[in-house]
Amino acid sequence: MTEMSTVTEAAAPAPKVPTLPDAQTVTEVKHWTDRLFSFRCTRPAALRFRSGEFVMIGLMGDPDPKTGKQKPLLRAYSIASPSWDEELEFYSIKVQDGPLTSKLQHIKVGDEIILRPKPVGTLVHDALLPGKRIWFFATGTGFAPFASLLREPQTYQDYDEVIITHTCREVGELQYGRELIEALKTDELLNEVIGEGFWKKIKYYPTTTREESPKMGRITDLMRSGEAFADLGVAPINPEDDRAMVCGNLAFNLEIKDMLEGYGLEEGANSKPAQYVVEKAFLD
Ligand SMILES: Cc1cc2nc3c(=O)[nH]c(=O)nc-3n(C[C@H](O)[C@H](O)[C@H](O)COP(=O)(O)OP(=O)(O)OC[C@H]3O[C@@H](n4cnc5c(N)ncnc54)[C@H](O)[C@@H]3O)c2cc1C
Ligand SMILES: NC(=O)c1ccc[n+]([C@@H]2O[C@H](COP(=O)([O-])OP(=O)(O)OC[C@H]3O[C@@H](n4cnc5c(N)ncnc54)[C@H](OP(=O)(O)O)[C@@H]3O)[C@@H](O)[C@H]2O)c1
Repeated sequence: MTEMSTVTEAAAPAPKVPTLPDAQTVTEVKHWTDRLFSFRCTRPAALRFRSGEFVMIGLMGDPDPKTGKQKPLLRAYSIASPSWDEELEFYSIKVQDGPLTSKLQHIKVGDEIILRPKPVGTLVHDALLPGKRIWFFATGTGFAPFASLLREPQTYQDYDEVIITHTCREVGELQYGRELIEALKTDELLNEVIGEGFWKKIKYYPTTTREESPKMGRITDLMRSGEAFADLGVAPINPEDDRAMVCGNLAFNLEIKDMLEGYGLEEGANSKPAQYVVEKAFLD
C-alpha cells in the first residue's frame, strides 16, 4: 500500500505553473452551434459564490504595438455551474468580431483563461422573498445563470414549482438548455441530495422566433395572449405565489419587467428582497 502510493506520487505530473494572473485551466469544451459554446475549467480554491452570480473572465489581449505590453481582456460571465460544483462552467456566445469571444471560441482543454474571483449579481435566491413558484425567464445566453440555479438544491427547497422559459431565434440555440434539463432526471447526486424525482417540479418552456419548432413566438407575446399559462397549466402570475428571475437582452428585460410590474410584482435586490430580479445577458 505504502509502496504503491510512493510510486503514484513519483509518477504524478508536476502541478502546472500558472502563466496568467488568476489563471484557471480549461477541462472541457463543447460547441453547440456556430454561435454558441460551453466550457468547464478548474475552480480557484478560495472562490465562494451563490448560484446565479457572475464573474469577470477573459484572456490576455494582444501586445500593445508601441510598448509590447499585454493587458487582460475581461468580460462579465454568469457562472453556469452550481455553487457546489468542484469545477466552473460557462456558456458563451461567439461574436466573430468580438474582442474576447473571437479568441475565446478557440480555447482547448489544457489552455488557461483568466478568472477574477469576485462573484456578484442579482439573480440569487437571497434577493427574493419566499413564494410557491419561481419563474426563470431567459433569451439566448441568458440561460447561463439558470443553468446554475436549476442545479442548485435551494431552488427546489424554496419552491413547489420551477418554470424555465427560454426564447431563442433558432432550434439549435435551445440544445444546451434542453440537454442540461434532461440530464437532471438521471443525475444521481442531485436526486440523492435534493430528493428522488426533484426534477418533476420543473416545467420547461422553450420557444423559437425565427425557425420552426413545436412552440413559436416570444415568451412575452405568449404570456400576453395567455397561451403560455394555458400550455403550462398554471394560473397567471400573481404577487402572492410567483417569484421571477429574468436574464436576456435589454429590450426583453425591459418588456418582461413591465409585465411583471403589471402583474403586481416588485423588483428586489440583495439589500432589499422582493418578488422579481433582473440581469442583463449582455451589454448593448
Ligand atoms: C452581467 C453580465 C453577464 C454576462 N454573462 C454572459 C454569459 O454567461 N455568456 C455570454 O456569452 N455572455 C455573457 N455576457 C456578455 C459578455 O460579457 C461579452 O459581451 C461577450 O462575451 C462578448 O464579448 P466580446 O468581447 O467578444 O464582444 P463585446 O464587445 O463584449 O460584444 C460585442 C457585441 O456582441 C453582442 N453580444 C455580446 N454578448 C452577447 C451574448 N451573450 N449574446 C448575444 N449577443 C451578444 C452585443 O451586440 C455586443 O454589442 C454577460 C454580460 C453581462 C453584463
Ligand atoms: N441568433 C442568430 O442566429 C444570430 C446570427 C447572427 C447574428 N446575430 C446577432 O447577435 C446578436 C444577438 O442575437 P441573439 O439571437 O443571441 O439574441 P437576441 O437578439 O437577444 O434574441 C434572442 C431571442 O430573444 C427574443 N427577443 C428579442 N427581444 C425581445 C423582447 N423584447 N421580448 C421578447 N423576446 C425578445 C428574440 O426574438 P426575435 O427573433 O423576435 O427578435 C430571440 O428569439 C444580435 O445583434 C444579432 O443580430 C444573431
